[in-house]
Amino acid sequence: LPDAQVIVVSNREPYIHNLSSQGVELVVPASGLVSALEPITRACAGTWIAYGGGTADRLTVDENDRIAVPPDNPSYTLRRVWLSEEEHQGYYLGFANEGLWPLCHIAFTRPLFRASDWETYEAVNRKFADTVVAEARNERPIVLVQDYHFALLPRMIRERLPEAIVITFWHIPWPNSEVFSICPWREKILDGLLGSSIIGFHTRFHCSNFVESVDRFLESRIEREDSAISYGGETSLVHAYPISIAWPPDLLAKLPPVEECRARVRRRFGLADDVKLCVGVERLDYTKGILDRFQALDALFSQHPEWIGKLVFLQIAAPSRGSLPAYRALHDECEALADELNQRYGKDGYRPVEMVAQHHTQAEVYEIYRAADICMVTSLHDGMNLVAKEFVAARDDEQGVLLLSTFAGASKELLEALIVNPYDAAMMGEALLQALTMPGQEQTERMRRMREVVRDNDVYRWAGSMLLDAARLRKRGDLDR
Ligand code: G6P
Repeated sequence: LPDAQVIVVSNREPYIHNLSSQGVELVVPASGLVSALEPITRACAGTWIAYGGGTADRLTVDENDRIAVPPDNPSYTLRRVWLSEEEHQGYYLGFANEGLWPLCHIAFTRPLFRASDWETYEAVNRKFADTVVAEARNERPIVLVQDYHFALLPRMIRERLPEAIVITFWHIPWPNSEVFSICPWREKILDGLLGSSIIGFHTRFHCSNFVESVDRFLESRIEREDSAISYGGETSLVHAYPISIAWPPDLLAKLPPVEECRARVRRRFGLADDVKLCVGVERLDYTKGILDRFQALDALFSQHPEWIGKLVFLQIAAPSRGSLPAYRALHDECEALADELNQRYGKDGYRPVEMVAQHHTQAEVYEIYRAADICMVTSLHDGMNLVAKEFVAARDDEQGVLLLSTFAGASKELLEALIVNPYDAAMMGEALLQALTMPGQEQTERMRRMREVVRDNDVYRWAGSMLLDAARLRKRGDLDR
């Protein structure tokens, strides 16, 4: 695709400008989507269209709402789209995050479907379609549509730019057709997505759930062998593309050696020499299994009290979607359970749980990965989960143990992690014990193998295989003309 313009569309922007007491501050958000797409967009020198949600975003764009990024080494264009309070409420907080997010994740949080949110979602998808058309330099761009905020956008783009190749990647799970059927606008969502030339998910399992949903609710023809859906005279391919991270991660070269990271993090949290450090890093989200992890710690301490005083659990929880009641409630529950455990097991300045509900930069997060003896990723359900891959990438010393939920897509690739069921606190407590007592040699063997897997399947491969499939489609289309 030598001359094709690559346009990425996502809700979350890769660089947010906020007003702070120091002036304008640049923030890179905590989002697996952003960390995966950023290196790709740089490599393609593309255009990234996203919602400008920062308090200083309007001050930093040109008259066309564009800004060259990354600010310190511009290599692509970020085009910001402005949303009103009502649009942000209905489309992002409402339909996307109170409707589709719990619908797609099995986390037993009831999805909320309000007709007014749906209308706003549709209107905002149209607004982004207008922006894609405005940014397209010709009739044939490649548009990479990201995630559940934009289920209707692919169809809208296809109507206006019929020769564009639209690749849509759904970063979260797709539920089975039974669960999906509760969405009042299920046919419209499927119809919207089938405006894509290619629809990608992390796992084959989610691909088949999607195909089943189409089969059940739309008049279509499905060729299971090549995962092709013919619908309304057009064909869409449904493929699994497991997302990943850049290898090696750029910032690794800028970080101090593991020993120094260890010393710094241990000093920051005042850890005694004989204390092991277990970490969790994520957005404060009810799909991540944070409470379940605290309960595992409780199970470990009650079954194996000799570890009381010898283990500290550090939870980095980036504030997320804080204006939604479900997220505020989770925040309070996490704080309350952490306090309870600290009271039950803490003594003489020893606090078994440290919860830091603050944004951390990628460099700070990597420093913490490098300092950890154990990293716990216990999502109740997750498309992929890039924290698991980042932890592995951070450990060039080949030490550290990963506990990984069987319900995260990453568990299909990182087979040498200790795979756990986050709903089973007793089992996770035992897995913690296994991690705490794992010999260094075994850690090395497991870590080495996991590092090979991530190295061989990095984010360039993820994007490369999607773009290669796009190139094949374009070639075939050109031959048919
Ligand atoms: C998940 C979603 C992304 C989203 C990220 C952060 O990874 O799949 O689309 O960007 O969470 O959430 P936020 O709502 O803050 O963008």
